[in-house]
Amino acid sequence: MTAAAEKPGGRGRTAAVTATDLLTATASRIADAFHGSLPVRDLYSPEGARMYDAFTQEDHSEVREFLRLARGCPGPILDLACGSGRLTLPLRALGRDITALDSSSEMLRILSERLTQARAHVTGQVNFVEADMADFRLDHRFGLVLLGATSITLLDRLGRAALFERVNAHLLPDGRFLLTALEFDGCSDIGDETVRVVIAKNGTDPALHLFTEQLDPAQGIRTVSILRQTLHGGEVTHSELFTTRVHTVTVESLRAELEAAGLAVHARHPVATGGSAYRVTLLECSS
Ligand SMILES: C[S@@+](CC[C@H](N)C(=O)[O-])C[C@H]1O[C@@H](n2cnc3c(N)ncnc32)[C@H](O)[C@@H]1O
Repeated sequence: MTAAAEKPGGRGRTAAVTATDLLTATASRIADAFHGSLPVRDLYSPEGARMYDAFTQEDHSEVREFLRLARGCPGPILDLACGSGRLTLPLRALGRDITALDSSSEMLRILSERLTQARAHVTGQVNFVEADMADFRLDHRFGLVLLGATSITLLDRLGRAALFERVNAHLLPDGRFLLTALEFDGCSDIGDETVRVVIAKNGTDPALHLFTEQLDPAQGIRTVSILRQTLHGGEVTHSELFTTRVHTVTVESLRAELEAAGLAVHARHPVATGGSAYRVTLLECSS
């Protein structure tokens, strides 16, 4: 499977680099231990979308912070890089129209299924847009644009500049742009690696997810890999490895880039992370 080599801007794909080429440290040793039989996939492939949805089933991080701030920003909501709706679904409790934008048709398909399952309990319209968050044009503006799950790291500097310009063009005069960022400030060791385990459901059976990440601050790169093993009757029935490479950016750099794009940072809100290796900050911005 070819994967996550990015064009300038961090938005495109080339066929030159495979997902296997991106593996680092622990993930690489895991792949070796399977003697080449382990499928290695892009985290943002269709298979990766289904894994991400299962992996984050019980992940409620950022939800409380986004809901609290969203209550103070009237008007329609634009959820950028919405994925399978980890934030979109709880935001529906506000009863406002939401536009859910993602570049993955599979993520939007899963979100649509989730909405159908949740229909009895929620209000407000959800519109789906399959698009690049750094290159979208919608026919109206929003009281709130949000970018959660520290997904700003999916874009490089050029991609971020394009995104911020698009966000500014889609904000109502009193609108707010909320985004979360990892605090990379002070992280310096190449080879830093954290490992954690998440057990989620695969239908009625458990699926074991071993999450590893490695930071290379000098290159401005963070590599994330997740080994997923599905089990049935106590036996492993399938193993797959998912990987992606994202861009590190300090909160100070982000603030400068936002300001260069005409977006002022009004406030920084700490986000509860439940023991993550990094701190997460929610930046509240407006035109
Ligand atoms: C880390 S997930 C976040 C999903 C969701 N917001 C959450 O909080 O769990 C990142 C999402 O960004 C999407 N994505 C990646 N690159 C994108 C781009 N350039 N434009 C729009 N979506 C993108 C992926 O398909 C994925 O659904």
